[in-house]
Amino acid sequence: MAARILVVGGGGREHALVRTLLRSPQRPRVAAAPGNAGIARDGVEILPVGAEDVPALVGAARDWGADLVVVGPEAPLVAGLVDRLAEAGIAAFGPSAAAARIEGSKTYAKELMRDCGVPTAGHVVLRDREEALAHLSRAAYPAVLKADVLAAGKGVIIAPDEAEAREAIDVFFGEKRFGETEVVLEEFLDGEELSLLALCDGERAVPLAPAQDYKRALDGDAGPNTGGMGSYSPVPGFDRETAEELARVAHQPIVDELRRRGTPYHGILYAGLMLTADGPRVLEFNCRFGDPETQAVLPRLRSDLVELLEASTRPGGLAGIEPEWTSDWAVTVVLAAGGYPGDYRRGDEITGLDGLQAEVFHAGTAESDGRVVTAGGRVLNVTGLGPSAAAARERAYEAAGKIEFNGKQMRSDIAARAVVGAEV
Ligand code: AMP
Ligand code: GLY
Repeated sequence: MAARILVVGGGGREHALVRTLLRSPQRPRVAAAPGNAGIARDGVEILPVGAEDVPALVGAARDWGADLVVVGPEAPLVAGLVDRLAEAGIAAFGPSAAAARIEGSKTYAKELMRDCGVPTAGHVVLRDREEALAHLSRAAYPAVLKADVLAAGKGVIIAPDEAEAREAIDVFFGEKRFGETEVVLEEFLDGEELSLLALCDGERAVPLAPAQDYKRALDGDAGPNTGGMGSYSPVPGFDRETAEELARVAHQPIVDELRRRGTPYHGILYAGLMLTADGPRVLEFNCRFGDPETQAVLPRLRSDLVELLEASTRPGGLAGIEPEWTSDWAVTVVLAAGGYPGDYRRGDEITGLDGLQAEVFHAGTAESDGRVVTAGGRVLNVTGLGPSAAAARERAYEAAGKIEFNGKQMRSDIAARAVVGAEV
């Protein structure tokens, strides 16, 4: 009998996961909690449970008869959803709460990296304003300040000088924009960024195709940090061997260390890497698929995603398994609501979604009186596929241009450097 798979979450990442699961030759039954308008339009059953309501998710998974629960976002992972599902006898893709701490706490992640020799930026932990001000007067600039909480990519401030670092300290310890939190003061690293996600089975880390993410809101990497405004895959210069070499340096030591500590890592381990002149450095680890990296990576997957995810839930289950990729390029452009990542409008009708030569993954959308309307900051992800970076990029932007809603905002330079990089 076909597997019954419940996907937890309702963003573009989860829509891409759902579509890729539906392509499996195993023909699984798929449901989503809470999903979004696009996931519902794909004919997937929607369970009306919030992605952070752990007890209700366990109940919904049991009632629906899920054989496997695939957890998209970090919050339920950090809150222990996978542990609670295991207690209820339901298999889940994703790390336990103990292993998910690698994303939940930046100070924990830093200690772990130090203990197992993963290269990362030097740092100190600032516990209060006095300690912060003392460190700021002797820090090197630019300096990086990070809230030690889950902040959807927005808790990072890069301060060019001490004056701006002091302003950042007001944001963290005065205004308390991110609540009660310690702050990590980190050495600024210069270089190209790369997102490398690896499937982990508690023993081994198997890298997926590398991707490039665009974190800033505006063209030319200007403006505030966001959850991600676009992505592409593959990345020129990073073939399978390079990815495996990076995973040996960044992911495998973490998997080995967590296994040694009795909290084995299962699921996706996402390394945000800075490729510096002195070699790769890990900027952060996340305990889940990247968003919007997943929307560019999964459309290129040739292997059966159901098999890959199930194998990751079993100790050593990935032995002998290598994900296979098409030679296509994928470019994902995020369409965001006006004002994002600050306050933004909701409830605007979206038109032009039909008949596009691109994959459209919904994020913040809802259905209202038979119309699709905006319901979040990042609204849609448009992924163009093609035999070259240029072709994929053209398809993505052509489709993105045909979709309309009030206040639509997007970057116009996603993957421009891949087109140049692929030509040289
Ligand atoms: P994080 O949430 O830690 O990945 O930080 C978000 C973004 O801030 C990263 O993708 C980088 O663009 C930037 N960033 C974080 N840490 C550093 C660093 N040490 N040096 C330079 N840029 C950084
Ligand atoms: N694209 C960044 C993230 O998923 O954290």
